[in-house]
Amino acid sequence: MSFSKIIATGSYLPTGVVTNYDLAKMVDTSHDWIYSRTGIEQRHIAHSDETTCDLAEQAVYAAMESGRFDATDIDLIVVATTTADQVFPSTACILQERLGIRNSPAFDVQAVCAGFLYAIDIADKFIRTNCANRALVIGAETFSRIIDWTDRTTCVLFGDGAGVVVLEASGTPGIHSTHLRANGAYKDLLSVPVGVSRNFDQVINGSAYTQMQGGEVFKIAVKCMEQIAVEALEANEAAVDQVDWMIPHQANTRIITATAKRLGIPMEKVIVTINQHGNTSAASIPLALDTAVRDGRIKTGDTILIEGFGGGFTWGSAFLTF
Ligand code: UT7
Repeated sequence: MSFSKIIATGSYLPTGVVTNYDLAKMVDTSHDWIYSRTGIEQRHIAHSDETTCDLAEQAVYAAMESGRFDATDIDLIVVATTTADQVFPSTACILQERLGIRNSPAFDVQAVCAGFLYAIDIADKFIRTNCANRALVIGAETFSRIIDWTDRTTCVLFGDGAGVVVLEASGTPGIHSTHLRANGAYKDLLSVPVGVSRNFDQVINGSAYTQMQGGEVFKIAVKCMEQIAVEALEANEAAVDQVDWMIPHQANTRIITATAKRLGIPMEKVIVTINQHGNTSAASIPLALDTAVRDGRIKTGDTILIEGFGGGFTWGSAFLTF
């Protein structure tokens, strides 16, 4: 049987940085409020002519520096994004053309902040069923484009960026398990309630903005992330102390610490990048993974528990050997 294994990671952050102090000049907020309520100190924001595909492309080039794959080796591209460059073609197709890859399947996945977990689940299944050998799995966002920069309840939270993992067929896992969930009953608690077939004029005039009932989202996120992480551990008959690293979606340090505490995972084993990146939606997990690989914390053979939660609601986990 084939498994999939991560052979390379990469990420890219736009050069523009907006600190909490910058935001305090724009809306009625303060560094202390943002930092104490969320753990965020700064976020990267794409330049006005920089797109989600631009960020994804740079993340792939960063992964290519590993020398472990070439664009021509890639036979599947899955891009998790909520902020696609165009209505169509998909960001994955635009990226495929830029990388000079021909004829591989390429498509986008939309599961907001849980998108990367959905993407990795799909790519893993392609590889396990011998439908692909080497896949680019990307989370990329220009979330700043769907933020109302006059709304202090949302604009302090989000940032832009991209991260990628390259999955390759392997005789041994790799990815041991993935678990995905969704519950559309919560669709109104976190949304951009306009789109192509509904109130498109708001998209055209640039007022398609993220709305969130933060407190409600917070409570449900902690519960769902704990449940899905427990499912991952049980499916692998793994004890909590077998986990070398937990990589949670980076939405709020208080959500991350609450989940880690409920699971009994010490914070020294939790990768936290939200202070530097903010919430980059589908990009947050691969950005955190690449950060910890590059700074030497995550090493080959480490056991990693990944978990994410986002609009929909959607949520999921992955349990893997790096
Ligand atoms: O990535 C997808 C999943 N997303 C999440 O998981 C986000 C989940 N939610 C959260 O992280 C938190 O709920 C927030 C960080 C969004 C908000 O934190 P909170 O502790 O739940 O604050 P709150 O919404 O209850 O607001 C408390 C107070 C309010 O004032 P009053 O009504 O008590 O007078 C807000 O108006 O803080 C006020 N407030 C702010 N004050 C200064 C809200 N935003 C700000 C702000 N600066 N930026």
